[in-house]
Amino acid sequence: APGTVTGGGAAAEHQAGDGVPVTTLRGPAQPAPGGVVRQLTLTARTATVVLASGQEVDAWTYGGDLPGPPITAVHGDLIEVTLRNDDLDDGVTLHWHGYDVPCGEDGAPGATQEPVPPGGTFTYRFLAEQVGTYWYHTHQVSHPAVRRGLFGTLVVTPRDEVPADLDLTLPVHTYDEVLAIGADDGVASHAAEPGAVVRLRLLNTDSEPHRFALTGTAFRLAAVDGRDLNGPGEVERRALRLPAGGRYDLTFPMPDGPVALLVDDSVRLRLGARVDGDGDDAAGTGDWPELDPLAYGEPAAAPFDLDTVYDRHFTMVLDRGVAMVEGRPTYAHTVDGRGHPSIPEQLVAEGDLVRLSVVNRSLETHPWHLHGHAVLVLARDGEPATGSPLWVDTFDVQPGEVWDVAFEATNPGVWMNHCHNLPHAEEGMMLQLRYD
Ligand code: C2O
Ligand code: CU
Repeated sequence: APGTVTGGGAAAEHQAGDGVPVTTLRGPAQPAPGGVVRQLTLTARTATVVLASGQEVDAWTYGGDLPGPPITAVHGDLIEVTLRNDDLDDGVTLHWHGYDVPCGEDGAPGATQEPVPPGGTFTYRFLAEQVGTYWYHTHQVSHPAVRRGLFGTLVVTPRDEVPADLDLTLPVHTYDEVLAIGADDGVASHAAEPGAVVRLRLLNTDSEPHRFALTGTAFRLAAVDGRDLNGPGEVERRALRLPAGGRYDLTFPMPDGPVALLVDDSVRLRLGARVDGDGDDAAGTGDWPELDPLAYGEPAAAPFDLDTVYDRHFTMVLDRGVAMVEGRPTYAHTVDGRGHPSIPEQLVAEGDLVRLSVVNRSLETHPWHLHGHAVLVLARDGEPATGSPLWVDTFDVQPGEVWDVAFEATNPGVWMNHCHNLPHAEEGMMLQLRYD
């Protein structure tokens, strides 16, 4: 049964391809055999939230806390979340970042649903068919709404795998210029015995990249954007640059001594049998080279590559300048010299192999994000990726760079394709890809 669409009939005007209304592209009502229904109600409301340091944040929340409640599920479960809006005047949605849900569950206002107004509700249902680390956030006035707290984590674990001894989900976010992991803006600590298997799930829920470093241990970058890498090797003294919206899962066996996690060169988390760190962990990490995910892990067969003949190939030129936005000249972040909604849609057909070339002609980094699909990274600046097949939903296109990525069109609907620096997206650096 479809959820309740509130806020009028405009969503029904948006058709996928030649005629299937997005509102019919909804998720199932039953879990897979062996799965359970994970039911949750999230009430969006304003709240004053106190961070660990005592710092108060004027927040927009799902349920009164920062971040929103962590959602966890096991592969095959049905996730059913009822969103209520208490007092957010601009309306609110839930978008499942990186999760390839049916289009009608995607939470993109103006494309897949109307924003849920104060007093309204909308129920999202989808199968937990992808394991890994993801997140959810509103897509209505996503800047400033996500910055103010309308987000949370989504972690799906395999049904038949021994979990790590210590599995920490660590959303990094800046509230009023205060950096926090979860709601902790200080240094968190966790006990971990030598030999314990540790998994750290790093999420960047900000609009700018963050730099991570891990002292006291070697580690493996096990997954990027929720998808496992092939043959990830052990590395140490490497920094990790995590794009806005992206996720990295790190794994390692706990060594005898303490381990510290640094974000932007300061210690934010300590692990160990005794966690009374001496504060020196940060020394020198600022000089560590960055691990390049395009050259990491073991190559393996992938369904397509640079030599594949693609059914569609779209090039998007990212820049900043004067553009026509809603018929008016505006100084904005642009795609092909235009701003959303004046950017033509990318039309594909189901089953197409689609290649996207993203060209950054601006002086800023643009973390590019496609809804509803993971994309395989083919090349950066024309150089083919050499490591594990790298499937991502968000990738940083730095000034001057060109990224080539590809996917197969297997999830019909209307999908936002945009910069995840949310102020850029809000200004117009966003378009739609569509098929039925
Ligand atoms: Cu995480 Cu369109 O967004
Ligand atoms: Cu951008």
